[in-house]
Amino acid sequence: MKQLLFSICLIGMTAAVPAQDYSPSTENLEARELFRDMRFGMFIHWGAFSVLGDGEWVMNNRNIRVEEYKRLRQFFNPQQFDASKWVDLAKRAGMKYITFITRHHDGFSNWDTRQSDWKITNTPYGKDALKQLSEECHRQGMKLFCYYSLLDWSRSDYQYETGITGKGTGRTEKSNWEHYIAFMKAQLTELLTNYGKIDGIWFDGNWDQMAGEPGKPAYSKVDWHYPEIYRLIHTLQPACLVGNNHHQLPKPGEDFQLFEKDLPGENASGLGNASVSGLPLETCETMNLSWGFNINDRSYKSVKELIHYILRSAGRNANFLLNIGPMPDGNIQQEFQDTLARIGQWMSQYGDSYYGTRGDIIPPQDWGVLTQKGNSLYVHILQAGGRHYIFIPGISKKIEKAFLFKGRSMVRFKQVQEGLFLYLDNVPIDDTDTIIELD
Ligand code: GLC
Repeated sequence: MKQLLFSICLIGMTAAVPAQDYSPSTENLEARELFRDMRFGMFIHWGAFSVLGDGEWVMNNRNIRVEEYKRLRQFFNPQQFDASKWVDLAKRAGMKYITFITRHHDGFSNWDTRQSDWKITNTPYGKDALKQLSEECHRQGMKLFCYYSLLDWSRSDYQYETGITGKGTGRTEKSNWEHYIAFMKAQLTELLTNYGKIDGIWFDGNWDQMAGEPGKPAYSKVDWHYPEIYRLIHTLQPACLVGNNHHQLPKPGEDFQLFEKDLPGENASGLGNASVSGLPLETCETMNLSWGFNINDRSYKSVKELIHYILRSAGRNANFLLNIGPMPDGNIQQEFQDTLARIGQWMSQYGDSYYGTRGDIIPPQDWGVLTQKGNSLYVHILQAGGRHYIFIPGISKKIEKAFLFKGRSMVRFKQVQEGLFLYLDNVPIDDTDTIIELD
């Protein structure tokens, strides 16, 4: 149903870019390049919803009334939560940043906010998860982004009357938009003042207020006050990167462009048809089919599938944000841990052909992708399929040598005006990725 809602509200959406009146600070521009260099991050969906083991949309999907849903406050008691274990896990997987749910659509705040009682410090657990995570990230040199939901299924000031979702949560009081905007600004101010350096804010939920008819430009039923909100963020922390999962071209004040379960330009998920901007790009994906902990979901993606997704993103010059949904006790299920460890092993061997690279050098090819760092091009052959050679179009710079990334043995090639032939006859094919470096 979620998918359907998205498709309905996105049909006919055009990507008009309003005049750019935002000039990012030097710190911000530097942070963008660092962001690109990092390439790989961990998304963490966790909160009161985790208790029900049915994903982060459970409140909406089962039409749970606010007062009843808030009973979760009594059960959310993540005694096993250990920020150092989470950061370690991300580090060992080769991830360079964490994007943590500070407040999802159910409105539960994972920090000790002063703006609401519906928060982690009012559970039996009683501690501020964001505090612990931010301190640990800073200690271990892990960058930290905060996911922040724009929509809210539990507050009555949120303009739920015109929202697409959260209709069945029993709200009757009239909404108060200005009050809600002030609430969000106060919360964002807390996030950006009480937790040290925050590397980015990841907004989500804009789509809840989209409307439109097929063939006509879509429009928003509310004014989100983005210019004001983005200015607030950049004033508090100029280097903080703002991204918004609105599935449209970035708006002024945004510093990176997000794609959800989709490679930039591919538009395969049905979640958006946004064109690709020149800003840093990021795509996010789940390890099974769920973002928040889902006790039934056994559809795990294989290590190879995920590495291919990671590389295909890099080939399109996008970061990859891989999600885990920790369990309500704070532990991370073994299946995720195992897969992440194996991705980490791959990264420690081949990461040089990935971190710090740029993509979008040539269009993605049926055999794989190309990444570049300085004078080196890395050919990632993801699908060798018994070929004797591959052709890389559009290589105009003179290639001096081609060799296997692993073992450094030379690979035969022929450069012509249209590109480069790489001969694979004597190349040992790696089922996950055969990497050939061109200098
Ligand atoms: C969607 C979902 C949300 C999830 C997000 C991650 O917007 O509503 O549950 O957090 O995607 O990309």
